[in-house]
Amino acid sequence: MHVPPILFAIACAAMLSACTQTSNADGDTNKRGQLVYAKECSQCHGASGEGGGPASLGLGVAPPDLIGLSQRNDGAFPREFVRRFVMGLLEKDDPDSAMPEFASVGLQHVYPNGGADGEVLEADFEDMLDYLESIQE
Ligand code: HEC
Repeated sequence: MHVPPILFAIACAAMLSACTQTSNADGDTNKRGQLVYAKECSQCHGASGEGGGPASLGLGVAPPDLIGLSQRNDGAFPREFVRRFVMGLLEKDDPDSAMPEFASVGLQHVYPNGGADGEVLEADFEDMLDYLESIQE
């Protein structure tokens, strides 16, 4: 059967967009979570969560690595701790440390679906937590 190229192109585009919308596979989740991490956290916590990103130089309190979170927590990924810490719900060791409170500054600029006014979109945040969990050493 001969398919006109334009119809073929439309079909391809439709399939591609279906893929990006229903991406529940772990790999995709991690990619989205990694994107959030790269934009929001890596400059301080390192490209791979190893600590010591470029922006950490000169900070009074060094951003700890984030790949050892589980290790420091008896082998279990402290998801709830990370969630609360990032949202500024927990007290920091040092109140003057540079770690932003994302509940106020928002993660909005990496959200494909908006998230105006600093609104934190739950799904993207969960993806980032998934990503962090996946890079634990
Ligand atoms: C501007 C630099 C900076 C950015 C950006 C940043 N952090 Fe931090 N982070 C820090 C510093 C500094 C600390 C140490 C704070 C303290 O313990 O008082 C810290 C601490 C943490 C801790 C506590 C770790 C532990 O072992 O106690 C977690 C978890 C964390 N950050 C996660 C994140 C995540 C996730 C992001 C991105 C959404 C992020 N941080 C973005 C600087 C940063």
